[in-house]
Amino acid sequence: MESLLVRKGGPLKGTVKISGSKNSTLPIMAASLMCSGEVILTGVPDLEDIKVMSGALELLGARVKREQDVLVIDGSTIDSFELPEEFSRRMRASNLVMGALLSRFRQARVAYPGGCAIGTRPVDLHLKGFEKLGYTIKEEYGFMEGNGQPRGGKEILLDFPSVGATENIMMAATLLPGTTILRNAAREPEIVDLQNFLNRMGARIRGAGLDTIRIEGVQRLGGVEHAVIPDRIEAGTFMVAAAITRGELFIENVVLEHVQPIIAKLQEIGVEVIICSCGLKVVGNQKMKPTDIKTMPYPGFPTDMQPQFMALLSTVEGTSIMVETIFENRFMHVPELRRMGADIKVEGRVAIIKGRTDLEGATVEATDLRAGAALILAGLFAEGETRIQQLEHIDRGYENLHVKLKNVGADIVRGPWS
Ligand code: UD1
Repeated sequence: MESLLVRKGGPLKGTVKISGSKNSTLPIMAASLMCSGEVILTGVPDLEDIKVMSGALELLGARVKREQDVLVIDGSTIDSFELPEEFSRRMRASNLVMGALLSRFRQARVAYPGGCAIGTRPVDLHLKGFEKLGYTIKEEYGFMEGNGQPRGGKEILLDFPSVGATENIMMAATLLPGTTILRNAAREPEIVDLQNFLNRMGARIRGAGLDTIRIEGVQRLGGVEHAVIPDRIEAGTFMVAAAITRGELFIENVVLEHVQPIIAKLQEIGVEVIICSCGLKVVGNQKMKPTDIKTMPYPGFPTDMQPQFMALLSTVEGTSIMVETIFENRFMHVPELRRMGADIKVEGRVAIIKGRTDLEGATVEATDLRAGAALILAGLFAEGETRIQQLEHIDRGYENLHVKLKNVGADIVRGPWS
């Protein structure tokens, strides 16, 4: 089994180019099933999750080709509407094929995704939305199954602005007659990217990025070329890398608006963020201040940056408070950070962090994707050597993370040692 060895080095310095967004690419890949033409996606990151989604599309009969950061998807040969458990279990986002298949073929059968490390993550909002659109939904033998000939023109109010439910319902409504109105929708940038992609294919969707989305049904969609947006969480992770090493990184290929909640918190603790026309520069500070953070749906502070900020605040003297409101079990990195000497207490969804400057390297496990990133960041600060295991979680969502870190001066190696 491979692991990463991280040693405390000097401040990171240099330029990092951010890859395309994982969370944008996955729903867009699912949406590619909705036309029989060829879809060309550019800026696609090379990640395990993208490979799993490619495998899922191929299993349904689509042809998927990859060359460097370009993915070509041909949905003209789809001949199956069923996604088995092996895909649903490996990646929750594979359930996004359900909305796409329902829209185009009016039938889909997808294995229930089950829980994952950071929470039970139900799909009730997705299924209620499909039912509200007029599909008949059955849940049996571990599968969710949908079919029917909905007449469209429905209003749906989400109980919570779920990212996945918003995307799935948007797709399921795109090829229905009438105008669907989706209220209390998630406002994440990835939803706007999905809308832009679908509209380019011929859909008529307005409002993504706001809390009400209007989907005027169209009869068919055609193949297009689309460049996915940069990954705001990867950008945020490198911004924290600059701060935690008290270094100076220039971040290229980032949409400023998408990282505003991260910039605001960094500035609040005393990190300098300089905005320029082609990116942003993050300058770490020896004298950072503690802060309080509450994760919220976009444009609030992203839950996907909570573990990385927890690592950073563990190195900032004073007491910080982190409240996780999105997932019920997203403090799995806390015991691992504690192994490195971090002083963090958890009470339900609240973590109290007493920052200290004497973290020490230890052997730790990347319990999930962002937890893994947090441990690498802590390792860059801690004295001695940190060994990070279970890299498969990190590979799901970061393209060449250790190589990119090494290029800006981190002392990090990946090897087959366990
Ligand atoms: C997406 C992101 C993930 C991010 C999350 C929140 C992708 C591929 N993943 O996940 O990185 O952490 O948004 O920003 O884009 N919920 C329900 N019922 C549902 C759906 C969701 O109760 O039917 C709950 C979940 O359990 C969770 C919360 O809503 O507690 C947020 O989930 P959601 O916004 O749906 O996240 P994902 O789309 O799974």
